[in-house]
Amino acid sequence: MKIFEVNISYKVVDLLSKKLSRITCFETANELLVDTFNINNFFNSQEEYDLFKEAMSSAQNIVSEPDRTEYGDFQTNQNLAKSVTKFLKTQKKINPKLVIEPTCGKGNFIVAALSSFKEIKKIIGVEIYKPYTWETKFNIIDYYISNPSVRKPKIEIFHCNVFDFDFSSLVNESIEEVLILGNPPWITNSKLSSLQSGNLPQKSNFKKYNGFDAITGKGNFDIGEYITLMMFEAFQNTKGYLAFLLKSSVIKNIVFDQYNTKYKISKIEKFTIDSKKEFNVSVEASLFFCKLNTQPEYTCAEFDFYKPTQNTKKFGWVMDKFVSDIELYQKSSNIDGVCPFEWRQGIKHDLSSIMELERVNRHYVNGKKEEIEIEEDLVFGLLKSSDLKQTVISTPRKFTIITQKKVAQDTSYIKEKYPKTYRYLQSHKTFFDKRKSNIYKNKPNFSIFGIGDYSFLPYKVAISGLYKTFTFSLILPFENKPLMLDDTCYFLGFENIEFAAYTTILLNSDKTKKLLESITFSAAKRIITKEILMRIDLYKLATLFSISSLQSELDSINENYNLNVSAEKWDEFLKVIKPKQLVKQMEIFTHQEEGLRTTAIIRH
Ligand SMILES: C[S@@+](CC[C@H](N)C(=O)[O-])C[C@H]1O[C@@H](n2cnc3c(N)ncnc32)[C@H](O)[C@@H]1O
Repeated sequence: MKIFEVNISYKVVDLLSKKLSRITCFETANELLVDTFNINNFFNSQEEYDLFKEAMSSAQNIVSEPDRTEYGDFQTNQNLAKSVTKFLKTQKKINPKLVIEPTCGKGNFIVAALSSFKEIKKIIGVEIYKPYTWETKFNIIDYYISNPSVRKPKIEIFHCNVFDFDFSSLVNESIEEVLILGNPPWITNSKLSSLQSGNLPQKSNFKKYNGFDAITGKGNFDIGEYITLMMFEAFQNTKGYLAFLLKSSVIKNIVFDQYNTKYKISKIEKFTIDSKKEFNVSVEASLFFCKLNTQPEYTCAEFDFYKPTQNTKKFGWVMDKFVSDIELYQKSSNIDGVCPFEWRQGIKHDLSSIMELERVNRHYVNGKKEEIEIEEDLVFGLLKSSDLKQTVISTPRKFTIITQKKVAQDTSYIKEKYPKTYRYLQSHKTFFDKRKSNIYKNKPNFSIFGIGDYSFLPYKVAISGLYKTFTFSLILPFENKPLMLDDTCYFLGFENIEFAAYTTILLNSDKTKKLLESITFSAAKRIITKEILMRIDLYKLATLFSISSLQSELDSINENYNLNVSAEKWDEFLKVIKPKQLVKQMEIFTHQEEGLRTTAIIRH
């Protein structure tokens, strides 16, 4: 049965009808509900009470659900909520006196807390969606009807925006153990802005990213992350615990930021749940758990929620390095440093149907299956993430039009020099103009990004940002032109094949694989990023590599791909990749040695 657009069981309707049948004043009704269920302020006004009684007498059956995307609405099912509170009680020995559910939805966590924790004195729930506040209250009553002898702590469910709720007012009440429990919304600020939703905290750039990073997505954050940090702000000096269901990527961000935020939290743990089974979504999620009011800690132990005693691994900070597997990291931490070359991301155009072409006979065909004829000069072979499977790649599957040599370059030259290409681009200009990202605003027509001198270097070493296989490919020119990568890939560019081949060999070594394994997160949208790649210290890696292993790797590449790369340039390569500081130190050292020697000679 439904009332106020929410589910209500017949037994709750029946009981409330009987109890409230003769009561006309909402305040009297509230007193009775405090006496019976200890739920405070059940009705907020006379008008609300009158509406409620009217609705009860003609309890509706089916009302269509509104679109709740902007509220990141993924209600925790009763079984999972119950397993979480049971786990907190039995495994974590938690016995809270105050339970706070900051976005309580239909109240499944509140009911689960009532059933697991027997010494709760007070429960506070906050929820923005009015029907859910009703449903929470009805569910609590339903629970009491089925369990008539249980203790009934004080309960208050606030219909309020969590960002406006003053949690600090609860701090004094929570001298005894507090449990902050729940499952905050699963939605990002950028999704909210695309929905033009105002369901955002006021400080929407709370991570303080600069304008460009904010545009390109670095400033993107989950509302659940913000709410977790709000709870830390309010309760980090209060004895107790926090247990939230969160996307695993949010947990990673919280531990990452802990280096700077230094919240007084410890015993940080994450218990991965089967989010497909529990929420029918395919994003990795976990129960995040930590103790409040302690010395700050900076690592998080990982477990499977369904086998919580088997620790899998630990991620977090090792000194000033953030790593995904602390134990594995110890085995390769010596090559975690700074790459001597700058990793670059491939071409970004956000218009694959027009800009990506296939070569059919001597023609090109675009993503709209249109056959097009254009000059060859601006057409380059293109490799995408899924193409980067082999160690050496010399032919592309697709092609692309490179309209600029560097970002924001004027594109008016195309009209005169390449009339066919211009005609093609111009006839699809509306598609270019419709590109959503702000980066294209006020830029020349047909602009692309991720382009510079480095894009035109003949030899490249590339990796996909999307896979956890960690295969680096040596990319050779095709038809005397450099091959381009798309923006899902990262690459280094080289003038000569030797340097590119040595780099490929070093990067495909076991040592590099171990480092990448221990510093990348599989829940991340981009497993490999520029930041991750910039951490591979090629020089350290090279010093661990013997010339004979280099030779045997070169032999195998030469044989398998019909190449003829020699080890002759290895010493020159080492000089180039040696950190400049180290070179300077060595020079000072040699000068000092020479100085000493000179002094020694003079003394003699
Ligand atoms: C992921 S659901 C979880 C609900 C509940 N905690 C549970 O575990 O079933 C998130 C809830 O947050 C609520 N919510 C979203 N934005 C909110 C806001 N600004 N203030 C309070 N509640 C909000 C949604 O309506 C939804 O009920």
